[in-house]
Amino acid sequence: MFQALHETVEYIKRKTDNFEPEIGIVLGTGLGGLVSEIEVEYNLMYSNIPNFPISTLEFHSGKLIFGTLKGKKVIAMQGRLHYYEGYSMQQITFPIRAMKALGIKRLFVSNAAGSLNSDFKKGDLMIINDHINLQPESPLRGHNDADMGPRFPDMSEPYNRKMIATALEIAKTEKITCHQGVYVSVTGPNLETKAEYKYLSIIGGDAVGMSTVPEVIVANHMAVPVFAISVLTDEGFTDVLKPVSLEDILETAKIAEPKMTKILSQLISTL
Ligand code: HPA
Repeated sequence: MFQALHETVEYIKRKTDNFEPEIGIVLGTGLGGLVSEIEVEYNLMYSNIPNFPISTLEFHSGKLIFGTLKGKKVIAMQGRLHYYEGYSMQQITFPIRAMKALGIKRLFVSNAAGSLNSDFKKGDLMIINDHINLQPESPLRGHNDADMGPRFPDMSEPYNRKMIATALEIAKTEKITCHQGVYVSVTGPNLETKAEYKYLSIIGGDAVGMSTVPEVIVANHMAVPVFAISVLTDEGFTDVLKPVSLEDILETAKIAEPKMTKILSQLISTL
């Protein structure tokens, strides 16, 4: 992987005049709007970057964006990669390794997720304060490169507490409903059955989604502090479960996104 990473990073540096990002951002399904707040200097299509997996989803545009957000140099992934698309965990998280090699000091991640907690409603935001990984494999499986991180990385605080506290303050000031809770990652792409939503809630989940955890594990492996936030796009409440469509999820993400963008951009401005 070291060789591939070297090749990728050299290509990106060449194409961006050695742009040095401080902050990495991964934008989730239907949540690419933060990009409009970035003063974009460069953008690269995933398909042109050596060793980058290509997003197979038509609603994910697959671009790496370089620019300034609230005075901070950022690199943003518009369009993330999912395990259900057929990639390995190492492929999904390769861009996070590349962002770290380019110099990021913090990682921000957003996603669309289903609520499992009946106090958390569709359209609300949830800051992730912990997770349960139900995906079948860790991105750290296989050879460990000790230059990147330890064989057995600690996961006692995978989401940075200080950034969570600041984000909650911002939400309060802005009068935005913002919960915090546990995100459960599943592979998808099918949504959950009633019995599965019930199970995920019983084991301690507040929200469920098909992403984020691989990226967070890899960031923790490299000691990069993480902030992650979910837009709750549907409610997996067993007694009243309604069919969920991708259109509904994207529609709710679109409505709730400005709230999330406000929190993320203000949080970044405090760093
Ligand atoms: N389940 C899994 N993934 C999701 C959901 C859900 O209900 N909503 C958005 N992503």
